Amino acid sequence: MNQVSRAHWGGRFAFILAAAGSAIGLGNIWKFPYMTGHNGGGAFVLVYLFCIAVVGLPILIAEIYIGKEAQENAVRAFDHFDKKNSPWGKIGIWGIVSSLMLLAFYSVVGGWVMNYEFQAISNQLLTKSDDILTNYLGELITHQPLTQLIWHTVFMGCTVGIVAKGVSKGIERWTKILMPVLFILLGFLLVYSFFLDGFGQSLQFLFFPDFSKLTWSAILEAVGHSFFTLSIGMGVMIAYGSYLQPSESAISTGIIITLLDTLIALVAGIIIFAVVFSFDQSPSAGPGLMFVTLPLLFKQIPGAWIITNAFFILVTFAAISSSISLLEVAVSYASEEKNWSRPKAAWGIGIATWAVGILCAFPELTIIAGKNMFDTLDIATSKVMFPLGGILMSLFFGWIVMPKSIDRFAKATNPLTAYGLMWVTRIVAPLSVGIMLFKGVKEMLGM
Ligand code: TRP
Repeated sequence: MNQVSRAHWGGRFAFILAAAGSAIGLGNIWKFPYMTGHNGGGAFVLVYLFCIAVVGLPILIAEIYIGKEAQENAVRAFDHFDKKNSPWGKIGIWGIVSSLMLLAFYSVVGGWVMNYEFQAISNQLLTKSDDILTNYLGELITHQPLTQLIWHTVFMGCTVGIVAKGVSKGIERWTKILMPVLFILLGFLLVYSFFLDGFGQSLQFLFFPDFSKLTWSAILEAVGHSFFTLSIGMGVMIAYGSYLQPSESAISTGIIITLLDTLIALVAGIIIFAVVFSFDQSPSAGPGLMFVTLPLLFKQIPGAWIITNAFFILVTFAAISSSISLLEVAVSYASEEKNWSRPKAAWGIGIATWAVGILCAFPELTIIAGKNMFDTLDIATSKVMFPLGGILMSLFFGWIVMPKSIDRFAKATNPLTAYGLMWVTRIVAPLSVGIMLFKGVKEMLGM
């Protein structure tokens, strides 16, 4: 791929929005609050912040740097620092496979969100009785495969449609609209939650750690989530970074993206727990927290219709700006290496992934060790594939890229930061993620 014809972001700002769009997603608004609730609050949040800073941020910087220096897709980028057809490029292939596996079930969950939004806007959600609302998600998952399929299809269709248009006309244009709207909606909900009785209790739950509640498995979940939330470990940030001009700084853009992602997760947590505590609900409701608890509570507050719609539109936007980046890694590879046209690559890969996603709509179907497709994909990606990709990427960056680039990093920042980054990516990050991976593999095999 020659560099003259390579697409580029309109600027640094466009890249930050698109990368933040990838990072900020269901992981922030759906997963983070329920994991925090489930793991007892403040202490988990603290560990999570620590993991973001020590493991997540360095690997994010590594991926952006590899992409922007190489100006190549997530597979070829490794050649730039090694040799032609470098064996390290396999990490990129691994990343493509894991991002498509994630996309298959991400699109199903995105479909649930769209379905909730459709129900909300057509006034069918809040008019359900409490009983029906409580069981609605379970009902949707176990008894309404067709509804699920329809929304999975709509969600995937939006994703493919945007990616098919390309980097500047598709991804950049859409994230420029989606992200600011998301920030405004979230700001609006935050102000709203400030006036709820549970606001103070929510802050206390999130920011006053009670270490007696911290368990080993919570710590491992925090490491894993720091990967998931920043979209690292699968080459997505290499692909996005490759559309950045090499003169931009990987460190400062990485820090801004991380701060935005963390901010949004915390704000989403504050809002959700403010609602939960205002109505004396349990914060440990699990994955149903957003889908079950929230609408139930929204029902009881003034302005319910507006709030509910604002909320589910926000989550839909966040999910789409993430799913487009999941598809982009594979599409940029296929269109550059296999010479497919962009629309052909986007539709072809999109439809194949959609087909795998269909299997997620049938929860009785067992795939591996007694788990259905949905759980298999969830555990395989979050607990096994991203961590492994992340370890390899981190090692590659620390041992191969850094020795060649240490002077540049030292000049751009200072020697302490440069050497810190090198040793963290050489040893600290791979080791801590390795422990988590070990546990993930055991869980995957049902041991
Ligand atoms: N970060 C996304 C979220 O929080 C999920 C995710 C993980 C992702 N890895 C990704 C999204 C890679 C896009 C690309 O929801």
